[in-house]
Amino acid sequence: MDDNFQKNIINDQPIGFFDSGVGGLTVLDKVKNILPNEKFIYFGDTLNMPYGEKSSDQLIEFAKRIFDFYESKSVKAVVMACNTTSAIVYEKLKNEYSFKIYPIIQSVSKVIASMQLDSIGIFATPATINSHCYSRELNKYSNARVIEISCPKWVKLVENSLITTEECKLALKEKLDEMMQYNPQKIVLGCTHYPYLKDELSKLLPNMEFIDPAIYFAEFIKNDLFLNGIQNKSNRTYPPEFYVSSDPDKFKIVGNMFYDFKDSKVSLVKFSV
Ligand code: DGL
Repeated sequence: MDDNFQKNIINDQPIGFFDSGVGGLTVLDKVKNILPNEKFIYFGDTLNMPYGEKSSDQLIEFAKRIFDFYESKSVKAVVMACNTTSAIVYEKLKNEYSFKIYPIIQSVSKVIASMQLDSIGIFATPATINSHCYSRELNKYSNARVIEISCPKWVKLVENSLITTEECKLALKEKLDEMMQYNPQKIVLGCTHYPYLKDELSKLLPNMEFIDPAIYFAEFIKNDLFLNGIQNKSNRTYPPEFYVSSDPDKFKIVGNMFYDFKDSKVSLVKFSV
């Protein structure tokens, strides 16, 4: 078997994505746009959502099961389309698997730091905020003042389709008021569920720029695949495969804002514990 033949097999392998639920679709959306010829498999761990309230041991256990699932699917890479696992799990498991693992926070911090802001606000889950992963990563590349604020209610508001309710507006306003006491120049949406709330956030604070890191993450992944020569070289497009650990129908309805599931099947996966 010559080298090229072997390379072609690698190039053709799918890329796995995972998140606790619909959040990672905000990343898949961007990656699919700039890598239209890749095969994608998405896993939403809806049974264990929200990840932001789980312990490190629990998050490592969830991630291991998902990585094992992706090993069985022979993927060439797994995209951690979840800030919480990037903050808590990545360092512990990054060398344990044969595929590449892309963590969102570590992959986007350099480009966010290069915006040369004096102050950056971060909204993220309690687990991400308590880890201080964002301030640690950003401060590797800049001296910006990083203000980290956790938003425990936001993921459930998204997953329960409550985005346009008064309850949601109050929950967003509470955190915006807290953040604006520190007057950041821009605010990073440090949880992949939060782009679902971006329009509502902008209505409450029209002059603020909310950074969705997904676009920078997608560019990082594309560059890395090309740099390593493992991009899919075919001209075809492939419909993504979707899996969840509970309630596929709810996943389709909620995720509709970032993916049109019209003709797509979402399959239920039960891991044996
Ligand atoms: N969307 C994930 C993140 O970026 C997880 C949110 C959660 O389930 O708490 O952190």
